[in-house]
Amino acid sequence: MADTISIVDNRTGKKYELPIQDGTIRAMDLRQIKEKPDDFGLMTYDPAFMNTANCRSAITYIDGDKGILLYRGYPIEQLAEDSNFLETAYLILFGELPTAAQQQNWNREITLHTMLHENIKKLMEGFQYDAHPMAIFLSIVGAMSGFYPDAKDIFNKESRLKQTHRAIAKVPSIAAWAFRHSIGRPYVYPDNDLSFTGNFLNMLFKMTELKYQPNAVLERALDVLFILHADHEQNCSTTTMRTIGSAHADPYSSIAGAAGALYGPLHGGANEAVLRMLHEIGSVSKVPEFIKKVKSGEAGNRLMGFGHRVYKSYDPRAKVIKRIADIVFTVTGKNPLLEIALELERIALQDDYFVSRKLYPNVDFYSGLIYQAMGFPVEMFPVLFAIPRTAGWIAQWEEMLLDPEQKIARPRQIYTGPVQRDYVPREKRA
Ligand code: SDX
Repeated sequence: MADTISIVDNRTGKKYELPIQDGTIRAMDLRQIKEKPDDFGLMTYDPAFMNTANCRSAITYIDGDKGILLYRGYPIEQLAEDSNFLETAYLILFGELPTAAQQQNWNREITLHTMLHENIKKLMEGFQYDAHPMAIFLSIVGAMSGFYPDAKDIFNKESRLKQTHRAIAKVPSIAAWAFRHSIGRPYVYPDNDLSFTGNFLNMLFKMTELKYQPNAVLERALDVLFILHADHEQNCSTTTMRTIGSAHADPYSSIAGAAGALYGPLHGGANEAVLRMLHEIGSVSKVPEFIKKVKSGEAGNRLMGFGHRVYKSYDPRAKVIKRIADIVFTVTGKNPLLEIALELERIALQDDYFVSRKLYPNVDFYSGLIYQAMGFPVEMFPVLFAIPRTAGWIAQWEEMLLDPEQKIARPRQIYTGPVQRDYVPREKRA
C-alpha cells in the first residue's frame, strides 16, 4: 500500500491523492482542493494547534501515553540520576554529551558570563519591592537586547554561541537579583568557585559570611530540578520562542516573549498556582470538598499541577520530583502541605472524573513543595522554571533558525466579521 491518502471532494466529485510523510499530510497539499477554480482552497482549522506539527525537531521526544521523555535520545530518568544541568544543557543545545574537555570549556564559559551589567541594578530599582519576580525577569531579559546589540547578528554562529553563554549564565543572576530586590537585601555577586546551582544559591541566600557554602543536598536537588525543566518539545513557551524568532528577532527579545508565555498559570505559572491551591485547601480534611468543587467544573476550580496536553499518563518528571522531595525534606524538614498534595493525588487517581480525562500529576504538582521548603517564596517558582528552560528555548530557537523549511510564522484565519460596508458619517449613526 502506498503512503498516500485519497480524498474525494463530494462538492465536486473530484478525487485527490495526498502523500503521507512522518504520520502527517502537508496542510499546503489541501489548498488544491477547491469547489470553484478561483477558490482559495482548503485549509486546516486547528485552534491551539491540538493536532498540528509546526516543525521537525531532534531535541526532545515525548510519548504521552507511555510517559516517556528523552533529551536527544537519553531518558530523563538517567540524566536526572547521572548528569548535571550544565552537561544536560550542552546535550540539548549541541546534540551530544560533552567530552571532559568540552564540559570543562563549557563550564568555564558559563561561569565567566554570570556577571550582570551594573546598569541592570538601575532597572531593578525601578520595580516596587513587591513586583512579581517573573515580571522583573522577563523585563531584564528583554533589556539584554539593548545591552548586547551584537545579538541581532543571528546568522553568525559565533554570535549565537556568545548569546547562548550569556543567556544561560545570566538568567540565574537576574533571578537572584530580582529575589534580593524583593526582600530588600543587597545584591550578591557571583562566586566562580561554586557550581552553577551552588553559585545561584550563593547569589540568593548569602548573608554576611565571607564565603557562602551551599548545602550539597539542596545544591544537587536544584540541579536535578533544572535538568527536569530544561526542555519539553513544542510547549506553549517554546512555540512562542520559535514564533518570535521566526521574525528574526534577537534571542533575548524571543526569550522575553517565551518567559511571558511561561508566566501563565496554565503553563509554568502552575507551580505557583499549586502552592496557592494547597494553602487555600488548608488541611487534608478539606480535600474532598475541594475535589467536589473541581468536579463541578466551575471556572477557576482546576486541580492545578494536574493534566497535560501530551502526557495522558503520569508525567515522568513528576515521579523524579517526588523522590527529590523526600531527599530535600530530610534537610529542610517536611513541607506540611505535602500531606494535602498526597491526599489530592490519592483521591484524583481513583476518581473517574480525573481518570476518564487522563489527568495525572504533571511537573508542577510537587516542584513547588520543594522550592518552598528550600526557602523560595511562591512568586519565585515560575522564575525557577524559566532558568533551566532558557537552555531549551535557545536550542529550539537555533533549530528553527537553521531549518530550511521554516519561515516567518503567520497562520491564516476563518473570518467571522461583517462583510464589507461603507463608512457612516457621525451625524447619521443611530
Ligand atoms: C506545563 O506543554 C508542555 O509541555 C508544558 C510543560 C512544559 O514542560 O513545558 O509540561 C509545563 O505547563 C505543565 C502543565 C501545568 N499546568 C497546570 O497544571 C494547570 C492545570 N492543568 C490544566 O489547565 C490543563 O490540564 C492543561 C492546560 C495543562 C492542558 O490542558 P488541555 O490539554 O487543553 O486540556 P483541556 O483544558 O482541554 O481539558 C480537557 C478536560 C476538560 O474537561 P471537559 O471540558 O472535557 O469536561 O480535562 C479537564 C478540562 O476541564 N481538565 C481539568 C484539568 N485539566 C484539564 N480539570 C480539572 N483540573 C485540571 N487540572
